[in-house]
Amino acid sequence: MPLQVTKTFLPPLEEYLAYVRQIWQNGWITNGGPFSVQLEAALKDYLKLDHVVLCNNGTIALQLAIRALKLHGEIITTPFSYAASVNAIIWENCQPVFADIDPMTFCLDPAKVEACITPRSSAILAVHVYGIPCDVQALADLAKSFGLKIIYDAAHAFGVQVNGSSVLQYGDITACSFHATKLFHTAEGGMVTCSDPELAQQLILLRQFGHIGETYYGLGINGKCSELHAALGLCMLPHLNTVIAQRKKAFEHYCQLLTSLPVQLLHIPSNVTYNYAYFPVVFPSPKAVQQVCTLLAEQQIFPRKYFFPPLNRLPHVQGPSCPIAENISSRVLALPLSHAITEVEIEQVCSIISKVLNTPYSALQT
Ligand SMILES: Cc1ncc(COP(=O)(O)O)c(C=O)c1O
Repeated sequence: MPLQVTKTFLPPLEEYLAYVRQIWQNGWITNGGPFSVQLEAALKDYLKLDHVVLCNNGTIALQLAIRALKLHGEIITTPFSYAASVNAIIWENCQPVFADIDPMTFCLDPAKVEACITPRSSAILAVHVYGIPCDVQALADLAKSFGLKIIYDAAHAFGVQVNGSSVLQYGDITACSFHATKLFHTAEGGMVTCSDPELAQQLILLRQFGHIGETYYGLGINGKCSELHAALGLCMLPHLNTVIAQRKKAFEHYCQLLTSLPVQLLHIPSNVTYNYAYFPVVFPSPKAVQQVCTLLAEQQIFPRKYFFPPLNRLPHVQGPSCPIAENISSRVLALPLSHAITEVEIEQVCSIISKVLNTPYSALQT
């Protein structure tokens, strides 16, 4: 069996089927059915959030956030993320302006953001890359000084805490993806969260064509979550702490083995409770990345170049150079990490990396 960058956690089928039977009994499969309402409440409780609005994917979640905040003109964003974060900006007729990233956290560097602010700036769309929180305080200070809104893309940050509380509570709106590759998933899905009740109401309206009952308020879209997707989320949630613990064990095994190699590993700040969503490694050179990929592929192991290309180099985007993001993007690989990866598989990956880097990995030295 090939070892992919991740393996989707699937709850026991019987647990899901029990929900499906109930959906059949209810005869209600979408449009705010009982399981989507229940999942919104469960997520609010699990993540300690004020308002949760489920959606059909994380890209729509970002677009709803941009619409709800009535953004226009320029939105300052990161070049180091998945294409969806910049696509949402462009799809909503705003102009992305790329600020470079911090080489340690891989998130937007607030000083670089400040340098990009113009009279046309309306917001900052920042990504908690790999689940490592942005400098939320510095970005909040900037937003306050310059009258900007903040949207966080927390597609990778489900369950992450800063100083003991959810990182999803920062900014005006936070968008999450519940795609099958994510730590918590509903096959396809996502959510938006915010603390302002009026904004939450606006997000709900936008998600369902702009109307409630027979009253039409304006333009909306179909961003709803079906009962089948919500049920999958409800099945996932009770298993999540175990999944995180399994990933933590695997993450720590990688760290232990790779610590003496000339690579940059993820730095988890001491005030952050991490979710172990990704295991990115920054190699000394693009050539080393290529060599590692080739040798791993021979063993049916497939890491991913998260994130390459940098978003300012996408064919439909024009952006000035962001040297730090471009440099890291050319040297980074996300190694396989999941609840199911074994120590032997991790050792196999690390032994290939150590061979390419010509440095024995830690376990070989003991
Ligand atoms: C950072 C980031 N933002 C947004 C998305 C889009 O989410 P979705 O696939 O649910 O639309 C993804 C991943 O797919 C992502 O990695």
